[in-house]
Amino acid sequence: MARLNSAAHLEKLRQLILDKNDGKRVVSVTNGTDGRTRHSEVVVQAFVNEVKKQGLAGKIVVKSTGCHGFCEQEPTALILPEAICYVTVKPEDVPEIVSQTLAKGKVIERLLYEDPVSGQRITKESEIPFYKSQNQTVLGNNRFLDMKKIDDYIALGGYSALAKALFEMTPERVIEEVKSSGLRGRGGAGFPTGVKWGFCRSAPGQPKYVIVNCDEGDPGAYMDRSLTEGNPHSVLEGLLIGAYAIGAHEGYIYVRAEYPLAVENLKTAIEQAEKYGLLGENILGSGFNFNVHIHRGAGAFVCGEETALIASLEGRIGEPRQRPPFPATSGLWGKPTNINNVETWATVPLIINRGARWFKNLGTQGSKGTKIFSLVGNLNNTGLVEVAMGIPLGDIIFKIGGGIPGGKEFKAVQTGGPSGGVIPRSLLDTPVDYEKLTQLGSIMGSGGMIVMDEDTCLVDVARYFLNFLAGESCGRCVPCREGIYQMLKILNRICEGNGREGDIESLEEIGQTVRDFSLCALGKTAPNPVLSTIRYFRDEYEAHIKEKRCPALACKELISYYIEPDKCQACLICLRECPAQAITGGKKITHVIDQSKCTKCGTCLEVCPPRFGAVTKLSGVKVPEPVRQGAAVTQK
Ligand SMILES: Cc1cc2nc3c(=O)[nH]c(=O)nc-3n(C[C@H](O)[C@H](O)[C@H](O)COP(=O)(O)O)c2cc1C
Repeated sequence: MARLNSAAHLEKLRQLILDKNDGKRVVSVTNGTDGRTRHSEVVVQAFVNEVKKQGLAGKIVVKSTGCHGFCEQEPTALILPEAICYVTVKPEDVPEIVSQTLAKGKVIERLLYEDPVSGQRITKESEIPFYKSQNQTVLGNNRFLDMKKIDDYIALGGYSALAKALFEMTPERVIEEVKSSGLRGRGGAGFPTGVKWGFCRSAPGQPKYVIVNCDEGDPGAYMDRSLTEGNPHSVLEGLLIGAYAIGAHEGYIYVRAEYPLAVENLKTAIEQAEKYGLLGENILGSGFNFNVHIHRGAGAFVCGEETALIASLEGRIGEPRQRPPFPATSGLWGKPTNINNVETWATVPLIINRGARWFKNLGTQGSKGTKIFSLVGNLNNTGLVEVAMGIPLGDIIFKIGGGIPGGKEFKAVQTGGPSGGVIPRSLLDTPVDYEKLTQLGSIMGSGGMIVMDEDTCLVDVARYFLNFLAGESCGRCVPCREGIYQMLKILNRICEGNGREGDIESLEEIGQTVRDFSLCALGKTAPNPVLSTIRYFRDEYEAHIKEKRCPALACKELISYYIEPDKCQACLICLRECPAQAITGGKKITHVIDQSKCTKCGTCLEVCPPRFGAVTKLSGVKVPEPVRQGAAVTQK
């Protein structure tokens, strides 16, 4: 690898790489963490071996890529330039893909995605409903890049934004461009990125530091992991541009330790960038120096908060501190520090290359650009979704997510991670942006989106998230430490059927105190799941408290399983399967659940043949006395 010593040299290399790959068919196999849960590494190796075996080496390029978004269908094989997409590919499918599609361009029907609604097979990736309404601006390049190859990134124009910034723009001009683009931090708070950079640049004190926040502690969120794994150079390039703009010569990438592949790919990317002269001394011959280090976090949710992250980087306990001073003036080792989220950094090269105006044209008045969400829960299609800000919430859930499986009704969506709020069906027309979500009592957060169907109890959901937050509160400030705990205690008793008059009001009162007086945003946002569920689903709280009834039939302590005697066919299945041996009866003797022994595991309901449908869940009513034991029933 030769060291690049000018912008022209970088461009020449790009041309060379493009010429080398010209006319070759490419197969991009998803091989990130999601793919690896289904042995994608074996599939990639099978492609490499088979291409050689069929004498196609040098004509076909096999790329091992990060996630393209539709993780549940991985490993996928995307064949370019036709964009033919095969889903859930197995090693045994590979010889046929190589001989038919890679060698001859023929489509193999059975490996295409089948639309569950129309039943049709879809050839092109962009025609799959999951991708159709997306705007994959930041994530999109994952499909064209081998995760471990800097040349692939350069071929796509990678590091040209850095060259542009270094040779054609002053640091102030870079900051102006980012300010003017309207880019806001993607890590949760949505603070304008260019403004933050400006604060750090003008803060007195040297040296200055830049940090990538790849802590990503929200349960179920993996946007940052997928970007870092799949396109690590985009994060590095953004960081370099930011460092140049701010006047920093040293940076840190804080990655949670549970992301080993992200760490591995970042290490490779750093080594390669150093060899090319894109990191280190005199970058591209510009005279600008920059070095970066990887720091692995130990996995506490609160360590994603910027001041806690800095404390953890310094080797202290990862606890947030009072702000001001903000990191921009006093951050790492007390020096001016700029910290941004992975997605924020990865967006920067696009803005520098394509211009602030291009970016501003995407999104809404106050929220520009696109945002990646991790769309999970009771949905037909789950995965990573990148959409322009302002898209109606319902479009994400129904057009991209494909709606709710099993004919169930949509109930609510929780946005913004564990400290986000829930949004009900009546508000699905809401355009997704920072302001609108906050007005509704939720937050954008870093992009978690959990969809819940009619069987979900929202009181129980609030309890679940508060339980997580109570465990993750660092305990340093009283409102957060005590307030969340007290709220959790109340929620526990409501869900257990011991709710009291006044509990809802207590939750609201404590929630407001925690929100107003906590030290950091963990506490300030922690009451969101509770306050938003009270706001939109107060009747569910009241049913739990006043009627001791869980309308969703989800809270264990408030439900009972009951076998309807006139439907029971005495088939013995539930009786045999019940792990608590709580069911009595016999052949031709209707079965009865002994409520004192029942652990409410739900096995009886699961195993009762649907044609009998004899087991039901009850809540808020007394379980009928067993009619009798021992009477014979007629088998149908
Ligand atoms: C409890 C808590 C956890 C956080 N976790 C993350 C995280 O995992 N990743 C992240 O980028 N920001 C996280 N943040 C937000 C950071 O404090 C900070 O605002 C962000 O890194 C700034 O980058 P941005 O301006 O690009 O969003 C968290 C904040 C809180 C209060």
